[in-house]
Amino acid sequence: MKKVIELKKLSKNFRIHKREQGLIGSVKALFKREYKTIEAVKKVSFDIEEGELVGFIGPNGAGKTTTLKMLSGLLYPSSGNCQVLGFRPVERKYEFLKQISLVMGQKNQLWWDLPAIETFVLNKEIYEVSDEDYKEILNELAEMLDVKEVMHQQVRKMSLGQRMKCELIASLIHKPKVLFLDEPTIGLDVVMQKKVREFILEYNRKYKATVILTSHYMDDVKEICKRIIIIDKGVIVFDGSIEKLIKKYANYKVLIPIFNGKVDSERLTKIGEVIENNGIRAVIKVGRKEVPKKASELLHEFDVDDLDINEPRLEDVVREMFGKVTIRE
Ligand SMILES: Nc1ncnc2c1ncn2[C@@H]1O[C@H](COP(=O)(O)OP(=O)(O)OP(=O)(O)O)[C@@H](O)[C@H]1O
Ligand SMILES: [Mg+2]
Repeated sequence: MKKVIELKKLSKNFRIHKREQGLIGSVKALFKREYKTIEAVKKVSFDIEEGELVGFIGPNGAGKTTTLKMLSGLLYPSSGNCQVLGFRPVERKYEFLKQISLVMGQKNQLWWDLPAIETFVLNKEIYEVSDEDYKEILNELAEMLDVKEVMHQQVRKMSLGQRMKCELIASLIHKPKVLFLDEPTIGLDVVMQKKVREFILEYNRKYKATVILTSHYMDDVKEICKRIIIIDKGVIVFDGSIEKLIKKYANYKVLIPIFNGKVDSERLTKIGEVIENNGIRAVIKVGRKEVPKKASELLHEFDVDDLDINEPRLEDVVREMFGKVTIRE
């Protein structure tokens, strides 16, 4: 398979003014500026192959946006290298820009006072998309996202979800081969989140596009990404499948018994840590190795109607990972 994105020890430091609080701090800063360096991205290395759809996750301030900005050429790396489609992003060659797109959920590119379609036309011109190709792709995208009517409306009158869908179309008019999606589902309701991520998957499959997606909603990555890369404090702490992540970092499974009669949580503590219990249905955390023993204990000592044994949820594993700082590959 062809490597489309390559990062080698990519780092980014920001130098910021260190200022003491209050008036005295402001006055002092007038005479002597002190600087502090923030290592936002530290020696990050990974490769992404053509057509991969990779979830890039991590807590606030971990370095996700900074990495995506370097990959799309908006920020100059402090050290290390990155290549996208064989180009050095920071050169921002037209041939490079024609093949990528960066979508930021928190920023918008659509013209506020005009119908969304006007921005699409503008992008068509910028990227020199032929009339024929434009018609075809717009038709397909508008159909896939169900905005055929809405896109003729003034952007300011759109709902957040409608606007996000049009943002996506505006970013895809030139059919980019590589897509950097920075929190494209932020602020959307659950139904709209699902629609947007299904669209991303469809776009990835249909055009064999390579996609890096960041999100704080674990459903986004869980449902469409086979591979996830986790960054924490600028360092990659995990790169692999969700199954591997769960096996590696969660040393427990969850037993979910359904009882025939009411059972107190107190009695269940001998099985494991009771996370939830409404008397009839309980969720109990049990060490991976103890699962057979504890499951049989549960079945013998309680009146169990049904029992599920599940892997922990991705969101719980990730939450626990970021709670501890010690996890490193
Ligand atoms: N232009 C900048 N100047 C100074 N510091 C910056 C700049 N941009 C980002 N940072 C800092 O770099 C670090 C990484 O920020 P970044 O935006 O990449 O995080 P993130 O992973 O995208 O977080 P979030 O999930 O909140 O979007 C943070 O400490 C941030 O404050
Ligand atoms: Mg960010």
